[in-house]
Amino acid sequence: MSSLGVNIDHVATLRQARRTVEPDPVWAAALAELGGADAITVHLREDRRHIQDRDLEVLRQTVQVKLNLEAAISPEMIAIACRVKPDQVTLVPERREEVTTEGGLDIVAHSLAVAEAVKRLRDAGIAISLFIDPSARQIDAAIELGVDAVELHTGSYANAMNPQDQHARLVELSRGAAMVRLASLQLAAGHGLTYRNVEPVAKLNGMGELNIGHSIVSRAVLVGFTQAVREMKALIHS
Ligand code: PXP
Repeated sequence: MSSLGVNIDHVATLRQARRTVEPDPVWAAALAELGGADAITVHLREDRRHIQDRDLEVLRQTVQVKLNLEAAISPEMIAIACRVKPDQVTLVPERREEVTTEGGLDIVAHSLAVAEAVKRLRDAGIAISLFIDPSARQIDAAIELGVDAVELHTGSYANAMNPQDQHARLVELSRGAAMVRLASLQLAAGHGLTYRNVEPVAKLNGMGELNIGHSIVSRAVLVGFTQAVREMKALIHS
């Protein structure tokens, strides 16, 4: 059975829309743990558009399950990771202009920088995962680097326009998953997974962990909305 890593970035996105103190991703992490999250995932981006340095520091002190930090391979991020020491760092690509992480980290094109980041994280005693596309070339390179885990990018599967395309993408993921398993690396997957499309990915042989953010945060806003309105109305009428 795969475990669930809950990505709470978008709780911070909402807070940053007003640059206020609510909603606090630290509270969201605690609630996610109460709901059964096996890991809390945050992406500290170079432009700090959602998660802030303070969030990471406090989460390191409060999160009781695995804390997974998504980070770019920049020297700044690797230094922060080595200092804060999350349980795991997932190396991801990052471009300022993107709305979200588009595509996996190309660890073939950036092999030297990735190897350097992997070495520094390993020396700091932090488990390392690489967020890559489910291509044989990328997976071979990850195996070569001797990392602990591989997170396969499920964006193409999630964005498939028809059932045939979706099936083809699932087969691709399944082949990638088999390679990761055969190399005895931990297997994870994520990006664009929703309440509607998650099941076939969760059922892939050896799937260890799914990282899901946007869909969970979106549903949380809606399932909590009625109660939030009720509470405000009660205050106004009291
Ligand atoms: N895994 C990784 C490596 C990611 O970068 C992201 C997005 O931040 C996710 C999983 C979660 O994606 P989503 O928000 O679409 O569920």
